[in-house]
Formats: sequence, structure tokens, C-alpha cells
Amino acid sequence: MGNLIKKINTEIAKAFKDIHLDESYAYISISGLPELADYQINSCFNIAKAQKKNPMDVASEISDVIKDLTIDGTKAFLKVEPSKPGFVNLKINDELLYAYIKKILNDDKLGVGDKETILNDNIKTILLDYGGANVAKPLHVGHLRVAVIGEALKRLYNRLGIKTIGDIHLGDYGLQMGLVIEELKDEDMLDSFTISDLEIIYPKASLRAKGDPSKNIEPDTQFSNRAHESTKRLQDNLEPETSIWKKILDISIEDLKKRYAELNVSFDYYYGESTVKDIMGPMVDDFIKRGVAHESNGAYVIDVKEDTDKKEMPPCIVRKSDGAVLYATSDIATIKFREDNFDVDEYIYVVDKRQSLHLEQCFRAAKIAGVLKGDKVFKHVAVGTMNGMDGKPFKSRDGGVAKLETLITEAKNKAREILKANDRDMGNLNIDDIASKISIAALKYGDLSNSPTRDYIFNMDKFLSFEGNTGPYILYTLVRIRSIFEKISFDGNIDETGEIVSDDIIHDIFLKIIRYEDVLLEAYKSYDPSVLCKYIYELSNDFNSFYHDHSIIGEENLQKRNFYISLLVVIDKIIRDVLGILAIDVPERM
Ligand code: ARG
Repeated sequence: MGNLIKKINTEIAKAFKDIHLDESYAYISISGLPELADYQINSCFNIAKAQKKNPMDVASEISDVIKDLTIDGTKAFLKVEPSKPGFVNLKINDELLYAYIKKILNDDKLGVGDKETILNDNIKTILLDYGGANVAKPLHVGHLRVAVIGEALKRLYNRLGIKTIGDIHLGDYGLQMGLVIEELKDEDMLDSFTISDLEIIYPKASLRAKGDPSKNIEPDTQFSNRAHESTKRLQDNLEPETSIWKKILDISIEDLKKRYAELNVSFDYYYGESTVKDIMGPMVDDFIKRGVAHESNGAYVIDVKEDTDKKEMPPCIVRKSDGAVLYATSDIATIKFREDNFDVDEYIYVVDKRQSLHLEQCFRAAKIAGVLKGDKVFKHVAVGTMNGMDGKPFKSRDGGVAKLETLITEAKNKAREILKANDRDMGNLNIDDIASKISIAALKYGDLSNSPTRDYIFNMDKFLSFEGNTGPYILYTLVRIRSIFEKISFDGNIDETGEIVSDDIIHDIFLKIIRYEDVLLEAYKSYDPSVLCKYIYELSNDFNSFYHDHSIIGEENLQKRNFYISLLVVIDKIIRDVLGILAIDVPERM
């Protein structure tokens, strides 16, 4: 059905041709002064410069040729006005806007065009590396952001028709595994252990190996040596370490799947660092043979510095002097594995911003080493930190790492309290289920409404509020719309005989709705789901003002009522569509 603004631009381009203006000047932009105009033409200055004319004269000339423009037989603008010092202010005709909105109503894709027509890149498949959980360790709050942002981006790409591959990239290898294995042996737990056991075992083993001077705990070097040996045996595929490790992996993955499911997050692949364990050694040997990696103080490195670098860019170490591989080696081997097994156009890593240097080194090393098949886009969505109210990284009450599970439970309890205090009729619906949906929406939206790279302050009470830019507010908007539909026994069939009511708030709603495709594209280009949050927040506000100012249920003129209902239907559909992308569930009541 095409984007209305693009259509308007095309018509303006035709009109420009008549006065010998280049079509590259023919585009309208959202007005900076919404009280005066919806859109404006900004190119008068550039045209004036090129033609050595006065910008206001150009604005008048343009106004004259476009003022009676029509689109599919409908007048495009209600107002076309040259404005100082050289713009053309435009107000779009409600008839035209609504004609377009009617089409959206009957379109499963809500007016969003096909990938080929809306994206001018060649990206067909995107691989997302997100989640990054570590085996045998519980998910902590730091894992919330990367999981929910990654999932939202993945769904956004799918919505735009791009294929995705989601890989969790587990931290399932290295010394942490040796530590857990040795501790399990010492505690005689090899035959039966659960995820809760593992959550206790890892910190215990880590403390034992490292010690803690502040608590006068000496490092247990003998234990630490055994953990290193175990890790080495695991790398060499020896028993019993390999079987124990597999068991740890199975138990952890099963638990992770459950935890992520609570957040509506799921992965196509649960690959990990261990997936490439047998690739790393020969890969580095090959780098050395081809001279890609060179010796430096007994270790092997790849130089990744570029002349234009402003920041420090140390060489990427791929093999330590004792022969051991590193985090970077596994990441480069993972790129190789992905190149060998999938057909990917773009790689997106949704990972903590503190790993920027590491990832940049790996991306460059992969390019230099010729691991890539053809040109590939690499993007690190550098995720900021979730801070506590004190502005420092969020901690649990006792000052330790905050477990995600604890946070979710706390949010659920609070949501349940709020529901009880509000004392609304929930029919025979399950309060726990509703509280769960509200709390997850609160946590996820609180996170997603901040740009990924920003650090933000985690404020549970604010996130759970039914007012303001919060998840519960958006959900409440939908619940309200639903209750209107119930009151008028709306059967979902929209009556096309509606009669347009024009006023400022309705005009604003029209303008928002027709921008939906552009908003999705903006989120796509900026790798930023907060663009979508902002949009549905504004749309929800518009709906709420509209609801406040218009009697929908009581409207006796059926034509008008049909029109109102049609607006509610589109708003409802668009907000639900966005929540689907953000992977946020909607309760029936709240
Ligand atoms: N497991 C890592 C961590 O906890 C994050 C993994 C990020 N992804 C990657 N390809 N390096 O720090």
C-alpha cells in the first residue's frame, strides 16, 4: 500500500519538475513547530543558494505549485504556507490521512511495506549474539539488558522481513568449569547435583581458589592447580571431566531456558565457547603458518591497529605463552564457525559496553585473518549498565551481585500488592498471572525505554507505576480499549461507514499512525528499541487524551461512533504489534 509520506514526496517531485526543480529537493520533514504545521519543506534554502534567489521567494513559488496537489483524487494539504525565513509549512488533509488509515485497518502488516521496498540495504540474514549467560552461574541483573534488547532487535528484524539467527553464546568453557568440577568432586556430589547446588558450588570454588584477603581467606593453591588441570583435561576431551562437564551443561541450559522464557526470550542456538573448542587450536596454528599471527614475548598475537585509530588498540592475543587459548580466541573461532555454518550478512553483538575493545579486536582480527567470506557488517550494540538508585551498578541488598530471579520475584510481589490495593474487578482471572505480566512488562519496558548504550537507574516503584512512560501504563491503555470494546459489544468487524470527526487530537493520532513504518525503520537503523517505546508511549497518551475528550460509548451518532471505534482498533493493533516486537505480554485486565 506504500508509505503515505513517500507518496506525498513523489507527488511533490512531479510538481517540482514543472518548475524545473530537481526531485532531490522534494521531501517533507516533520515540523519542529507542531502547533503551526505537521510537516515542512526545508530545501528552500539550498534551492535559493543554487539559484541565487531569496529563500522566501522560493518558498512562495513552491507553495504555489503544490497547494492543490491531490493524491488518489483527495486533496493532500489543508494548508500550504511559506514561512520565514524560508520554509513551507504544511498541514495534511484529514480526509487523506483517514483514507490511508482505513487501508491500514485492513492490512495484516499495518501498512508496513515489504523489506525490498522499505530497506535500501542488502541485509537478508542477521545473526544476533545476545544473552551471554555463563553456565553454572545464576543469571544476574547484568544479563537482563542484553537479553531483552537482543530479543527485541531480533523480533524487529523479523517484523521487517529479515531472517535472524539468535545465538546465546554461553560462557561454558575455561577455568570456571574446572573449578566447578573439582568442587563437585570434593563434595562427593558428582552423581547428583541440581542447578541450585551449582549456584552455590561456583562461588564457593572460586573463593577457595582465589581466597579473599578482606576476610582473611588464603587461596588454596593446591585446589586451584587441580582446577587448572581439570580444565586442561576437559580441553583434551578426557574423562571423567568431559562427562561431568556435559552434565553441568545440560542442567544449566535446562534452567536457563526456563529463566529466559519468563522474559519471553528464546534462542535458536544454545552454542557456547565450547562449541569451538576443537576449532581453536588448528585455527591458531593456521594463523601462525600464514603469518597472520606472530610471536610476541612467547605468546601469539594479531596486530589489529589501524592508522586512523584514535584510541588505544593493543594486539589481539590468540595464544598465551603457556599454549592456552583466550576469550578472544574463542570469539574469533566462533566467527569462523558461524561463517562455515550459516549464511550471514550482518553480525550484531548485544553485549555489555565494557567489552567494546575486546569485540573490536576480535572483529578486526577475523577480517585480517581472512575468516570472513565476503564483506560482512559487524555491529556491537554496546549495552550500558543498570544502576541502582545511588547511580552505581545495581547490587543486591547485601551488596553482592543481584540475582535476576530475586528481582523478578520482588517485582511480582509488588505488582500483586498494587493490584490488590487498586481493588478492580478481575472477574475470574488469575491474579498471579496478571501480576506476572505486569511485573515483566515493568522490568522489560523500564529497560527497553532507555537507549541500549545508556546507563539507567533501576527504580522498581517508578517502573511499576500505572502512570508515566512505563510498561504498566501502556498495558493499561490496552486494557482500557478492551473494556470499551466489551461495553459496546464490539465484534471486531469495523463498519466502513464512519464519518470523520476532525479536531486537533484526532489529527495528531492520524499523523502518528501513518508514521508507523518510519518508526520501525528508525529503530532498525539506530539499533534502538527505545524508539518504539517512545512511539507507543506517545500513542497511548494521544489515546488517553482522546478518550478523555470524546464520549465514545455514549456517542449517539452511529457514523461518528464507528469512526471512533475504527481509530481505537488501529491504535490497539499498532501498540500490540510493538509489544509483540518488545516481547511483552498483555493481560486481559488489570
Ligand atoms: N559470557 C560473556 C560474559 O559473561 C558474554 C558473552 C558475550 N558474547 C561474546 N560473543 N563474547 O561476559
